[in-house]
Amino acid sequence: MISGLNKNKVAAILEITEDLNQIKDIDSLLDRVLLAARRFSRSDAGSIYLLENQKLRINYVQNETLIQKESGKKYLYQNHAIDINDKSMAGYVAMTKKPLIIADAYKLDESLPYGFNRSFDQHASYHTRSVLTVPLIASQNRLIGVMQIINSLNDQKEAVPFRSEDELVVAYFANHAAGCIEKAKMTREIILRMISIAEMRDPEETGNHVNRVGAYSIEIYSKWAFNHNVNEAEIKKIRDVLRIAAMLHDVGKVAISDTLLKKSGPLSNEEYFQIQRHAILGARLFKNSTSDWDDMASEIALNHHEKWDGSGYPGKVDDIFCETRAPGLGKKGCEIPLFARIVALADVYDALTSQRIYKDCWPEEKVIRYLQEQKGKHFDPELVDVFFSIYEVIRAIQNKYGDN
Ligand SMILES: [Fe+2]
Ligand SMILES: [Fe+2]
Repeated sequence: MISGLNKNKVAAILEITEDLNQIKDIDSLLDRVLLAARRFSRSDAGSIYLLENQKLRINYVQNETLIQKESGKKYLYQNHAIDINDKSMAGYVAMTKKPLIIADAYKLDESLPYGFNRSFDQHASYHTRSVLTVPLIASQNRLIGVMQIINSLNDQKEAVPFRSEDELVVAYFANHAAGCIEKAKMTREIILRMISIAEMRDPEETGNHVNRVGAYSIEIYSKWAFNHNVNEAEIKKIRDVLRIAAMLHDVGKVAISDTLLKKSGPLSNEEYFQIQRHAILGARLFKNSTSDWDDMASEIALNHHEKWDGSGYPGKVDDIFCETRAPGLGKKGCEIPLFARIVALADVYDALTSQRIYKDCWPEEKVIRYLQEQKGKHFDPELVDVFFSIYEVIRAIQNKYGDN
């Protein structure tokens, strides 16, 4: 496979390759691919662009320098697309399907067709120097995107040019990753299709809403886990399943009558009871099945309307397959599973900050005040604090998956 590398390196590469085959969530996969490519080329930053409507859309960004600064994390949720042509390095690599190594992005030879766009560096106070860009090519020589690795670091943590060995390893990961990325993209598309079925019934559950709730949830979890000294491997494992499970929080609405879900006037008690059933129906959908995220998806669907003070629904349910009209005793505090407490906060925040058919979005200060007021009432107070400690990241996600 990769000649010219020592045995330990090859063994480590094979282990990571094996690991990549197990990952289902597209974002976790991009995260892992980029991390592996960066680790082996000892580089500071990188991004993955995926092909979307004949353009390269930035899908994943890592930046070790910026992640050290709390305010730098927002730059990890970028949202832009570039053309496939010879005007940019990534566009050029997509066009030629050949790797490109640049020693210093600020000293490009004027005869080259592409230039370096300095706007990211200027915004984020970052300095890009060496850049290694490789195409992501799936079967039948189909281009699916581009991976760009930035600033190879020497022992003194200074940016230096990439070595030819780096190109070899990064290109190897890119080749292997392309097939895995295609599979994970398909999984994400199936999930989004399930959600769009729910969306036909309930116009509140849009693709953007669930993308945001998924992203908010993993960021809230990661910060919470960091505060609780959870190890990095566990955090990554949870992020892989939590995003998808969180996205599916309201999928039980497929089983609720759409006339009820779309009703704009006040609801009778019976109608409200019918709508509340979506929590149990969603939980049933994922029970006793086989994929990694089913248990978590079931737990979140069942508990995402529980409230910290015990006033939520459906409350304690002995058997989710048993039809009963009697509400369960309210679940309180930590009786509500952590992931459901996280999704409850992410879901309500997103509902308040989005325009819905029956209401405009609330002004930001009003939303902030509301979440603070609901600390210890609707929401886990610790999670509200975590949420505000990563508020810049939350706003960047909102921007990335905006409704317009
Ligand atoms: Fe719900
Ligand atoms: Fe929702």
